[in-house]
Amino acid sequence: MSFKKNFLWGGATAANQYEGAYLEDGKGLSTADVMTNGSHTQPRRITWKNPTTGETGSVLFTFGGRTNIPVGAIPAVIEGEYYPSHEGTDFYHHYKEDIRLMSEMGFKTFRLSINWARIFPNGDDDQPNEKGLAFYDNVFTECQRYGIEPLVTLSHYETPLQLAIKYNGWADRKLIDLFEKYAITVFKRYRGKVKYYLTFNEINVMDLMPYMGGGLLRVTPQLQAQAAHNQFVASAKVVKAAHAMFKEIKVGQMLAYMPLYAYTADPADQVKVMEGSQNMLFYTDVQTGGRYPEYRLKKYEREGIILDDEPEDYELISNYSADFLSFSCYGSNTVTTHEVDDAAGGNMTTGNVKNPYLKTNAWGWATDPACLRIALNNLWDRYHKPLWIVENGIGWEDKFSEDGKIHDDYRIEYLRENIKSMYDAVTIDGVDLMGYTMWGCIDLVSAGTGEMRKRYGFVYVDRNDEGQGTLKRTPKDSFYWYQKVIANNGEDL
Ligand code: BG6
Repeated sequence: MSFKKNFLWGGATAANQYEGAYLEDGKGLSTADVMTNGSHTQPRRITWKNPTTGETGSVLFTFGGRTNIPVGAIPAVIEGEYYPSHEGTDFYHHYKEDIRLMSEMGFKTFRLSINWARIFPNGDDDQPNEKGLAFYDNVFTECQRYGIEPLVTLSHYETPLQLAIKYNGWADRKLIDLFEKYAITVFKRYRGKVKYYLTFNEINVMDLMPYMGGGLLRVTPQLQAQAAHNQFVASAKVVKAAHAMFKEIKVGQMLAYMPLYAYTADPADQVKVMEGSQNMLFYTDVQTGGRYPEYRLKKYEREGIILDDEPEDYELISNYSADFLSFSCYGSNTVTTHEVDDAAGGNMTTGNVKNPYLKTNAWGWATDPACLRIALNNLWDRYHKPLWIVENGIGWEDKFSEDGKIHDDYRIEYLRENIKSMYDAVTIDGVDLMGYTMWGCIDLVSAGTGEMRKRYGFVYVDRNDEGQGTLKRTPKDSFYWYQKVIANNGEDL
């Protein structure tokens, strides 16, 4: 047994990191459009303006930090600041070339997100923006031309800015119906062109980055819990609508999942692993599993969190769970209750320590050759729903060699080990895996740092951290390597 014959090999992107054209053809601002760039050591910032006093400023955007915009101020684009989402790597004007490059690699699927503010510029407009709809129509037609199946994320780290300002984003139940309307609008429009949708990218980032995950400008644990609940209900409503009106459409969940390891054999470390895993899996227990787990309800009880809910919410959540479960996995995280000298390490979350058995990249993200097998088994055993790895990859500061090429053996090595690990999950353990989309298949802006230098792509894009460059596309060595992997369906790595 091997990967399925129709295994969906491809790559993944997100509108705010890739598309650019941030105000073109009627698009409204999204929460991503007011985030500056940063670096590995310098956090990104969210800029704001006080409309009454005219005062401007910014707040730091950090993992685990509760970013609160000052009272009376609203997030805004400020002159003199640099916002990498505004141009991204300009997929908006390069989509034909990029999709052709994807087809050259043999992509069977292409994961992209629709920018909600391109379709409904304020999020709550009566009518959708025709030019925005037309753009994605063209993109999907291009995909069809090459037999590439789109996988579309409805909300990838951005909410129309007006919804953040008016309602504090997903903290308000109003967003449930607005999101449902948006989803049905695109389901209708792209019928026959798009079959696979994901609702919220890495829904569990609500715990760590509620601004990115839900457009929250004011954050408390109560509001985070409410925003997550609202997204669960919205997801269930969208699944319900898809099943009722668009039978061919499958709506998946998307989780940021990193297996957790204990740094020591101390039982206290195992409890830390268990609790850390619950924090991630709570989101799948509800959205894919269909019910609120007791451990989370107890936590809410302890913390005095009371949800603004309706009895039908739980019926919806239980009857319309996600059709499949997709997830991102870049590596594992290691946690401990002990003091450790070299504490820095791990992917994306706080409180992790460096795993002495693993190599890391310049941003401290570890390459773990066993992590996809472990992740796939954990999720398969818990839910028994088809799985899809929709993000995996490694950020690197690629440099041209004297021969004018990019020899990214480090990326090939990372991918080889990771694909081998998912191969094991399929062939040894029998996990049902639909596909694999490598993150940032064409270079794009980093979500965490806003940098360009943290590159993931098979294709290099000429653009730097100051926003300069020709945007020229150049295939790296990994481009040709992945082309072969797809051609032999992962048999020869
Ligand atoms: C995932 C996000 O968490 O990680 C992507 O869904 C993001 O949007 C990716 O780009 C890699 O993270 P970063 O910070 O290196 O861009």
